[in-house]
Amino acid sequence: MATNITFHAGSVDSASRTESLGQKGVTIWLTGLSASGKSTIACALEQHLLHLHKFTYRLDGDNIRFGLNKDLGFDEASRTENIRRIGEVSKLFADSACIAVTAFISPYRADRRLARELHDKAGLSFIEVFVDAPLSVVEQRDPKGLYKKARAGEIKEFTGISAPYEAPENAEIHIKTDECDVAEAVRIIVEYLVKHQFV
Ligand code: PPS
Repeated sequence: MATNITFHAGSVDSASRTESLGQKGVTIWLTGLSASGKSTIACALEQHLLHLHKFTYRLDGDNIRFGLNKDLGFDEASRTENIRRIGEVSKLFADSACIAVTAFISPYRADRRLARELHDKAGLSFIEVFVDAPLSVVEQRDPKGLYKKARAGEIKEFTGISAPYEAPENAEIHIKTDECDVAEAVRIIVEYLVKHQFV
């Protein structure tokens, strides 16, 4: 724990960036089971926003675990730390006037609440998107063969099988990926962004 540190506020704040750059920062937080469609939707959304000439950046669970969070596993404490760090990083992106799109299972409500609170305290917007698909459906999809391995006991603490997933109760957006395709999911999110004047 660091001691004797002092926060140094610069003269450029989030509001002045928004005014100068013409874009309001926000974090779009996708949560859901493995294979629910988070990464696919995040990629398509990022591409769509870029085509609209918006400054956007995607933070994806698998990818971040190759670098920043390579020291973390999948036990409860590691997942909490994973989400705490991404909450902080996405807050910095949102503060920079970026539309940050995060795609993490983020299975614990308390961890997602903390990420939201970090944004709230900084006066930044946080939009939770529940990327929802039943376990039976994601298990059927199983694009990486992880559910099969988890059922066989080859992966411990696998979300939905041997580790919990606490579904959001008040997400701003709820997308059922067994009922709509990727384009429709992007359309739903963009419609929300337009309605709330982020794009
Ligand atoms: S978490 O729960 O938010 O910390 O997870 P996240 O950082 O999003 O990483 C999820 C991806 O890691 C792979 N993987 C596992 N997922 C869940 N449980 C276990 N035990 C596990 N082991 C590896 C898997 O590819 C997840 O990617 P997605 O895109 O969700 O399928």
